[in-house]
Amino acid sequence: LGTGLILGIESSCDETAAAVVRAGSEALSNVVASQISLHANYGGVVPELASREHLRNIVPVVREAIARASVAAGHPITFADLDAVAVTAGPGLAGALLVGITYAKALTFGLDKPLISVNHLEGHIHAVLMETRQRSEIPMELPLLALVVSGGHTHLYLATHEQGSETWTYHNVGRTVDDAAGEAYDKVAKLLGLGYPGGPWIDALAPHGNPRAVPFNFGEIKHRAPRPGVTNKKAPASNAGPHFDFSFSGIKTAVLRYVETHNMRDSIEVRRTTLAANPTLTPKSEAIVNLCDQQTLDLIASFQYAVVGNLQRQAFSAAESLGARSIVVSGGVAANSELRRRLQAEADRRNLPIAFPSLALSTDNAAMIAAAAWPKLVARDFATEDLGAAPQLRL
Ligand code: KG4
Ligand code: ZN
Repeated sequence: LGTGLILGIESSCDETAAAVVRAGSEALSNVVASQISLHANYGGVVPELASREHLRNIVPVVREAIARASVAAGHPITFADLDAVAVTAGPGLAGALLVGITYAKALTFGLDKPLISVNHLEGHIHAVLMETRQRSEIPMELPLLALVVSGGHTHLYLATHEQGSETWTYHNVGRTVDDAAGEAYDKVAKLLGLGYPGGPWIDALAPHGNPRAVPFNFGEIKHRAPRPGVTNKKAPASNAGPHFDFSFSGIKTAVLRYVETHNMRDSIEVRRTTLAANPTLTPKSEAIVNLCDQQTLDLIASFQYAVVGNLQRQAFSAAESLGARSIVVSGGVAANSELRRRLQAEADRRNLPIAFPSLALSTDNAAMIAAAAWPKLVARDFATEDLGAAPQLRL
């Protein structure tokens, strides 16, 4: 195993990332080149542009990750010192994934080192596990319930591993039947004339509004509904049991209807043009509150209150009915302050350990990919030379 040094590579969406992690627990470097400003003009990720940008960034990002790892280790680390290279194989944008996979394949071929394929969602879960190990905390009690909430995903997994083995198993016990939670944040923010990505804007503005001003009720989905347009294949045995699915497209439509019936179009347009003319305004700027009237702030607060409440109810019903002994929250939306506060409070009430990633490891990064690859290195579970991109890869 050498020293368990793994280079992780992540390019599934709009971040080109590379990191060096030792034994799944110590991130020696974690470099992320974000493309947010590139895609912001379009209000969403443009796949073709993302692929081109990954191609431009991948070599310098990996070089930087190796250089910073040397500084952190206090001695030079070279490619020859790596025990394996891990790469995200999916889910994600096909063209974007291909850049990281092709690069990782070429690198491992040239170095004659093993290649490890990682599921992006497994990566998000391991971001949290890596940090608890790094802080030398007691490991999360098993089975754990993992809530993965990002711009592309809203999933609940019951995860565990056998004693004495590091090989994890994941049972998908809930997922969104339409939009992801982060997607709802992004779409509602766009509708209200706020910046991209929308989550941080709504997060910053919500505390200034009344969360009970607009009662958004959307029912939880207790039984797995067939996906629209997809034939309902028989669920695999590992997915049997109760399901705690989500739906976020209804609330997006409800916000749209509210905007239309409350004459908010003009003020939204003013906000949109003001923000476009002042690119220095960020969700952290205090002045952004002045861009919104009270009605808008109340709408934002009510939207967030409903979305967080929905995530909270589904997560804790699942944890209770499935006998989870701890909860791990990850993905971009795990950065949300109200989500963290409310989940932490309920977990404390129920005496259930709960862990969130640091803000840097909430959103996409490669340290989580290298961390998720560590058990696979121990088990010598390596990818073969025909590894391809799997845009719809399931966990
Ligand atoms: O994990 P991530 O970086 O990329 C995906 O795999 O999708 O997640 C990005 C998503 C975006 O939808 C963004 O709006 C959301 O995470 N997000 C937030 C916050 N920060 C990022 N949502 C709510 N509150 C936040 N503070
Ligand atoms: Zn992600």
